[in-house]
This record gives sequence, structure tokens and C-alpha cells, in this order.
Amino acid sequence: MVANAERPHAILVLTGAGVSADSGVATFRGPDGLWEGHRVEDVATPEAFRRDPDLVHAFYDARRAKLETVQPNAAHQALARLDAEWPGELLIVTQNVDDLHERGGARRLLHLHGELKRGWCLGCGERFAWEGEMGAVAVCPSCDTAGKVRPDIVWFGEMPYEMERIDAALQRCDLFVSIGTSGAVYPAAGFVQTALYCGARCLEMNLEPSQGSIFFHETRLGRAAELVPAWVEELLGG
Ligand code: APR
Repeated sequence: MVANAERPHAILVLTGAGVSADSGVATFRGPDGLWEGHRVEDVATPEAFRRDPDLVHAFYDARRAKLETVQPNAAHQALARLDAEWPGELLIVTQNVDDLHERGGARRLLHLHGELKRGWCLGCGERFAWEGEMGAVAVCPSCDTAGKVRPDIVWFGEMPYEMERIDAALQRCDLFVSIGTSGAVYPAAGFVQTALYCGARCLEMNLEPSQGSIFFHETRLGRAAELVPAWVEELLGG
């Protein structure tokens, strides 16, 4: 258990693909630089969607279908335990578009890059929950128009969600914890610098040092499913 004098009050946890890797969800940057065989610019940009909506829909439909075959792992469960038991402020910000944090039980959670299980109608502007295949002819449940629905996912070149709330939480937190992210994609890659500048202690847990590793006071290397439960136990006590 962490001694009271050292106990933080406000914690911001940032998670990336590495937190879901132990559940069998592929990370973004494989050793070949490809995302499940695709270049990101072919599947994760608004230009790609305009050029080839069928390919982009097929890609995200496959990712959404994959969610039905995977389960939250010990890292998601430990963060849900922290959420339930931490008496101070907590915000879990995930870059992941899967739903494993919420299925693991986390509540104080934001999806910075959108969610696979949500759609966005480019006709009427509504965003809504979405189950199953979407495809290029999906009908918007709000305006009934076909062919205007896209995955509610933040692609490269688009504005991530909830940045004002996240920025305020970063400035307030006294412990910033980054889990399973390569630190390759901004703005999330820059969160550690804001937290550090505002006086937070910064801890990273990852399989390997991230690109922003030098900004952290402490780096713990290993699998999230092992490191995160141990850290939560340390913080909350037995
Ligand atoms: N436990 C902990 N860390 C792991 C594990 C594991 N089991 N497996 C892999 N990692 C680490 C890798 O070493 C890597 O540093 O997780 C990190 C995953 O990095 P990325 O694949 O780059 O994923 P992420 O940082 O979440 O990507 C950020 O990029 O493509 C965009 O929008 C997409 O949200 C995504 C963003």
C-alpha cells in the first residue's frame, strides 16, 4: 500500500492498444509497420473513406466482429477495480476503439479516438450506438438515410474527442499513468508533457519504452495484464 503522504488524489490513466493485446486484439503498429496488413492511410483517414468506402467499412466491420470473440483481460479488470475503489478523482482515457474497458467494468472512461460500436451519420450529424455490420449502405436510425453512416472513429487528420475535459484533468492530476501505448500519435503522445509540466508524477507501463519514455519518472516494462493488477494492488492495498 502507498503511504498516505505519497498518495495521489487525482489520477489520469491513458491506455493504448497494448492494454488490449493480452485479450488478443492486434496492436496498431506491428513490426512491419502495418495495421493488420493495411497501411493506415488506406483505412484510417477521411480521404481513404471517400476513395474506397467499401474497403474502409470492411476493415472496421471485421474489427467490430472480432470484438465478439475477445474478453477483457486482467489489466482491464484491474483498472475497473481502481475505478470502483479509488476515492479521489480518476479519469481513464483510452485511445482504443474496442469496448473492453467498459465490459471489464470501468465507468470513469473516455474514448479519445471514438468507438467501433458507434456510428456517425454524415447526412444529419447524429452519433449513435451500432451493433454488427455497418457497410456502405447502412441506414441512419435517426434520419433514415442510407449510405451516409460511417464508423464513429477519429481518423488521422480529425479532431480527437473530449480534449477540453482531458486537458483540464491533465492539469489537475498528480499521477499520470500511461499503459500500452507507443507514444507515436498526438495529441495523446503529448499528454505526459502536460502532466509533467503541471507537476504530476508520471509512470509508464509498456512492453518496451515508448517514444516519450524520457518524460516519465518511472517505466515498468512487461505485459499490461501482469503489470497493471500489481500496480493497482500497490495503490489500493490488499
Ligand atoms: N502489454 C503492454 N504493452 C504492450 C503489450 C502488452 N501485452 N503488447 C504490446 N504492447 C505495447 C507495444 O510495445 C507498443 O508500444 O503497446 C504499444 C502499442 O502501440 P501502438 O500499436 O502504436 O498503439 P497505440 O499507441 O494505442 O496507437 C495510438 O494510433 O493508429 C492510431 O488511432 C490509432 O489509437 C491508435 C493510435
